[in-house]
Amino acid sequence: MDLANARSFSFISIYDRIYLWLKEVIPISEWNIPIYNSLKKYAGSNPVPFHMPGHKMGKGLPEEFLRDLLPMDVTEIPGMDNLHFPSGPIKQAQQLAAEAFKADKTYFLVNGSTCGIHAMIFTICKPGDKLIVTRDCHRSVIAGMMLAGVEPIYIKPEYNSRFGIYSHVDPDKIRQALDNNPDAVGVLITRPNYYGVCSDIVKIVQIVHSHEKLLIVDEAHGAHLCFNEKLPLGSMQAGVDMCVQSAHKTLPALTQSAYLHVNGKKIDIERLEFYLSALQTSSPSYILMAFLDIARAIMQNKGAQQLEDLFKNIEDLRETLKGVDGITLLGKSQLCSDYDQTRVVINLRDTGITGYEMEKLLRDASNIQVEMSDYSNVVCISTVADNQKDFEILAEALKSMVELHRKQDPLKDLYIPEAEDIFQEIVLKDMALRSGKLVNIESAAGFVSHDMIVPYPPGIPLICPGEKISRNSVDLLKTIAAAGGIIHGLVNENEIRIVK
Ligand SMILES: Cc1ncc(COP(=O)(O)O)c(C=O)c1O
Repeated sequence: MDLANARSFSFISIYDRIYLWLKEVIPISEWNIPIYNSLKKYAGSNPVPFHMPGHKMGKGLPEEFLRDLLPMDVTEIPGMDNLHFPSGPIKQAQQLAAEAFKADKTYFLVNGSTCGIHAMIFTICKPGDKLIVTRDCHRSVIAGMMLAGVEPIYIKPEYNSRFGIYSHVDPDKIRQALDNNPDAVGVLITRPNYYGVCSDIVKIVQIVHSHEKLLIVDEAHGAHLCFNEKLPLGSMQAGVDMCVQSAHKTLPALTQSAYLHVNGKKIDIERLEFYLSALQTSSPSYILMAFLDIARAIMQNKGAQQLEDLFKNIEDLRETLKGVDGITLLGKSQLCSDYDQTRVVINLRDTGITGYEMEKLLRDASNIQVEMSDYSNVVCISTVADNQKDFEILAEALKSMVELHRKQDPLKDLYIPEAEDIFQEIVLKDMALRSGKLVNIESAAGFVSHDMIVPYPPGIPLICPGEKISRNSVDLLKTIAAAGGIIHGLVNENEIRIVK
């Protein structure tokens, strides 16, 4: 024994030694490994998963791909290629994806659409540039603009008060924003939105391109669109310049896997590749990349038929729910705009049961886990991995929960503040360096928000960093909280971080 070891050995007390000995004999099932234990408990409970990832706990993936995964978790050894300089299998797989998704060029992303959104913004914008952005954007868009020093020009989508959700973006508002901001570099829209609503992409492409600007789309929820003609047109088919898609949301692919697609010659590819390389890990998971390839192959080989089966299951659910008073399964006819019919949004307004209550009831009584809920809706993500049985369980559970818990009055409408409530006090790019302090929501009106506050509903940012918090916004946050709602961005449930 050398001196160092001898010394450390002598410092281990008898109690430490007993602890170490006990640790060795504690069975694995009792180890304190909270993440693994929680996952095991959830997976072992055999839930009906109407949430992402789209492979639905492995159901959507052929068995042969699930065997021997760990020996395949390798790095850039010879023959495996390199995501940052692809010349072999990764290059080939990206080319196959470009063909399948109707793009000129496709990049694999291992940090979700998030890093793709950042790369798209950095590629088309220089610090100080203006970008026209629909307000229903994901937080990664706000963070990307903040980091890139971009000045956002927001457009609000249309609000549908009957169903309590934001729906499509009026193309004329995009035209107006372009006319008013001729120095903007382009437009970024989110399509489909979380509720499956698809804005008129053909019209929007035509408007943006006729102004000689770039159109980039956050198509995180639309990776499946190009695999069945009955679905709304995908961005690449419509002629959008660049888009991202989260494979893990709507395809049988693993969490974090996503694609970035490019069309035409207007995007500076060298700049894009620099940012993709700068923003992604230098040790990308080959398993994630392999599953991006597998998801593409599944959709190409059998996606069209599997989507037909999915449409049939959703139509059957619609038929069953027609017999349940007060429930509406949203679709094209209710929202008067193009709609991704794989997104199952169940409106409960006339049952008097909130979406939050129904989410909990479905979980507690039937072990169904939905993707999310808001005040008057529950949102289910359905993919080619869901089967007829899953939908039957959902239909039965909804029917019986409404019968048991129906209220006498429908839900009362929530007041949603209009666009005039946006007051940018500190420019977004300066917010990256500002520190904050917590105050109670009650006393937050009049201060400048440090964080992004996203209540459900309406599911789009109510307040963005650097914006003044209005009295109306505080009232809405309180109403949503009182209804049991979810507000992303609050701290300790009732505190808001303001700029110091
Ligand atoms: C509209 C939208 N865009 C982007 C993202 C980010 O996608 P990812 O989780 O793949 O990074 C999300 C995630 O929920 C989203 O809903």
